[in-house]
Amino acid sequence: MRFKKLATNFFTPACFKAKSQTSEHKSQLSSKEITISRRLSLSDVSNSSICTVLSDISNSLIGSNLHIFAHNELEKITQSFSKSNYLGEGGFGKVYKGFVDDRFRPGLEAQPVAVKVLDLDGTQGHREWLAEVVFLGQLKHPNLVNLIGYCCEDEHRLLVYEYMERGNLDNKLFKCYSGTLPWLTRVKIAIGAAKGLSFLHEEEKPVIYRDFKASNILLDCDYTAKLSDFGLAIDGPEGGETHVTTHVMGTHGYAAPEYITTGHLTTMSDVYSFGVVLLELLTGRRSMDESRTFREQNLVEWAKPFLKDSHKLDRVMDQRLEGQYSTEGAKKAAALAHQCLSHNPKSRPTMSTVVKTLEPLMNLNDIPIGPFVYVVPTESGKEGQIGCHDKVKNDNKGEVKEGGLEKLKGSHRRRKGQRHKHRIKPLKSSTIFSDTALYKVLGTGLYSPR
Ligand SMILES: Nc1ncnc2c1ncn2[C@@H]1O[C@H](COP(=O)(O)OP(=O)(O)O)[C@@H](O)[C@H]1O
Ligand SMILES: [Mg+2]
Repeated sequence: MRFKKLATNFFTPACFKAKSQTSEHKSQLSSKEITISRRLSLSDVSNSSICTVLSDISNSLIGSNLHIFAHNELEKITQSFSKSNYLGEGGFGKVYKGFVDDRFRPGLEAQPVAVKVLDLDGTQGHREWLAEVVFLGQLKHPNLVNLIGYCCEDEHRLLVYEYMERGNLDNKLFKCYSGTLPWLTRVKIAIGAAKGLSFLHEEEKPVIYRDFKASNILLDCDYTAKLSDFGLAIDGPEGGETHVTTHVMGTHGYAAPEYITTGHLTTMSDVYSFGVVLLELLTGRRSMDESRTFREQNLVEWAKPFLKDSHKLDRVMDQRLEGQYSTEGAKKAAALAHQCLSHNPKSRPTMSTVVKTLEPLMNLNDIPIGPFVYVVPTESGKEGQIGCHDKVKNDNKGEVKEGGLEKLKGSHRRRKGQRHKHRIKPLKSSTIFSDTALYKVLGTGLYSPR
């Protein structure tokens, strides 16, 4: 990843004023005018006033296409943040769909966007907003969601991202009643997310993502996975340090055990969380599920003993796959998950090793041919309306409309009731900034995720 520096003040304190922006936006720079510089750290700016911060960012931010929006423009873009545009919500606030084009900014590509609005009464605040601008404004990669712009006007803090058509992995894996994710789609998602983390870890100044979980992995129309939500991301250790010591924040069920007990954070903490998500993909079970029997509530504790024994592996594999997965691939993925979940961080693989281990799984062809399935045309289902890419290549090399697997529909309907019954209510805390923050101080104050 190269870091580029804007040659003029693209970001200035005047960005707070809606009407004074046009000329600045017109002054966007061509790539020729961008020079390489060191990436701005969150710590470089987090103690400064907002004016200084934006001026610092203006001198360091690479995203020459990062746009500054006025609040009223984002109102227009999202039809006044209407319910019909609502996409989702985390601890930061609600996210709405919108549409931008060059009527808003010269040269702005016509495209759908997602606008995240800081909930002024919520648990997160300026620090999380800033983390997203600082990290996603500078880090560009196919497996990180693209930040298109932001708004910082009076108390308003908003973020504008590329729109990810298939939403988050948590919904797709656990709440999607219209069909289950096929094996190869799961492997593809794991590879994409692993590449995103690997990129962060291999930066000249490594970044620890700290909140790797299914609901922060967004899916494009072709199931390319991209990491979103950099609210908890933090610069990794530098200058020979082995770890960063922080308040323990993250999500129950995903955070690495040594981080929870010591507050010592390393890139290996992200590797542990990756192992949890890989396990979720294999088993179709949530990392924490209070609706299950006590023994099965914590996914890692329950599933880990089965991962290295190939004879027992099918006991934990997702039943909804109905056996249609590569046995060889499942074994390799399970062994990898086991390694990522090692208690000793040093025994965990690096994310680039994870990528190298997972990639060949896409080419294994020992996937059993499934029974004939009738594809039911969708009437008004959201997925049915999306022109692009409703079809994914299924594991048997056929095309299956994900929204219409008749065979699977019944079982998903049955699950629907159960899931609502056991939805875990979020606990809010004014001292913790994230939807996901779980420990206020070491060893105390356990917070549940949304
Ligand atoms: N770019 C996007 N495209 C589509 N949906 C999105 C996008 N960004 C966020 N969402 C939806 O909003 C939810 C919350 O977004 P997230 O970035 O995780 O916010 P928070 O920081 O509040 O946790 C996501 O889980 C997803 O469902
Ligand atoms: Mg989130």
